[in-house]
Amino acid sequence: MNHFLDIHKTDPSDLRAIIDQAKTTKQARLGHPKAALDDELPLKDRMVALIFEKPSTRTRVSFDVGVRQMGGQTMVLSGKDMQLGHGETIADTARVLSRYVDMIMIRTFDETVLTEMAEYSDVPVINGLTDRTHPCQIMADVLTYEEHRGPIKGKKVVWAGDGNNVCASFLHAAGQFGFDLTFTGPAQLDPEEEFIGLARKAGSKVTIERDAFKAVEGADLIVADTWVSMHDSQSSKERRHNMLRPYQVNDDLMAAAKPDALFMHCLPAHREEEVTSAVMDGPQSVIFDEAENRLHAQKAVMRWCLGG
Ligand code: CP
Ligand code: NVA
Repeated sequence: MNHFLDIHKTDPSDLRAIIDQAKTTKQARLGHPKAALDDELPLKDRMVALIFEKPSTRTRVSFDVGVRQMGGQTMVLSGKDMQLGHGETIADTARVLSRYVDMIMIRTFDETVLTEMAEYSDVPVINGLTDRTHPCQIMADVLTYEEHRGPIKGKKVVWAGDGNNVCASFLHAAGQFGFDLTFTGPAQLDPEEEFIGLARKAGSKVTIERDAFKAVEGADLIVADTWVSMHDSQSSKERRHNMLRPYQVNDDLMAAAKPDALFMHCLPAHREEEVTSAVMDGPQSVIFDEAENRLHAQKAVMRWCLGG
């Protein structure tokens, strides 16, 4: 069994195998995207717990549908309704859940909740987002890029805005999949040094460029995310917006990248804030393919977790 905790903690050959598996299973159901069951049922007779300590639309629905398509069943649990939210330790929760279910997906705040859950669980644990990272999203994004433009290796990805949890997983992916990443945003919101270092150590070129227009020169992909994440305080909203406004992805910024550059956003988006509707709904945007690919990528992740 394998835990899927983070992209930099997963072997590059396993990551590649997961992406290839996702392409294969997606292809196998072409023309029947919503059919209830896959031809193969690797999760037959398996139960998966989906724990949410933060809101979710895509992660919740894509994991739920994915498990069912693979023949398994799900149990969606809200952190606040569990004893976990009322003082029971994570270690005890992990040991108990391991007696009932075959796999645990958790979306939480502090990443130590995730790592402790994995340490004490006898079944695979999957990171469905923490304050620090969001690996399932970036597996879907790599799949999406490659479906549209071929191998992501050697490409230039530009992250515009807050160096947040989704940006962190993009940095991890840069190192593991071999692409370059330019961050453009205010210095106060730079990605963590540790993650920049990891990507550089793995051989990818990581650049920090304060001028958004310079940053996107030669970009193959531009990525944005919300300016205020779920773990950020609402009182910081105005300050963050003021800092981040020069990094909005709009038609002018897209025009400064390569003509065939793609635009991605993990969603939910705040239209006319981090990105304009013209870009979101424009020809370079692949945001809804990303959302669909959460399903296909995570099915492959779950298969890998169970040793498949
Ligand atoms: N992108 C993403 O994880 O969306 P949700 O918060 O809706 O799950
Ligand atoms: N950075 C965002 C991503 C949501 C999917 C957040 O953590 O709220």
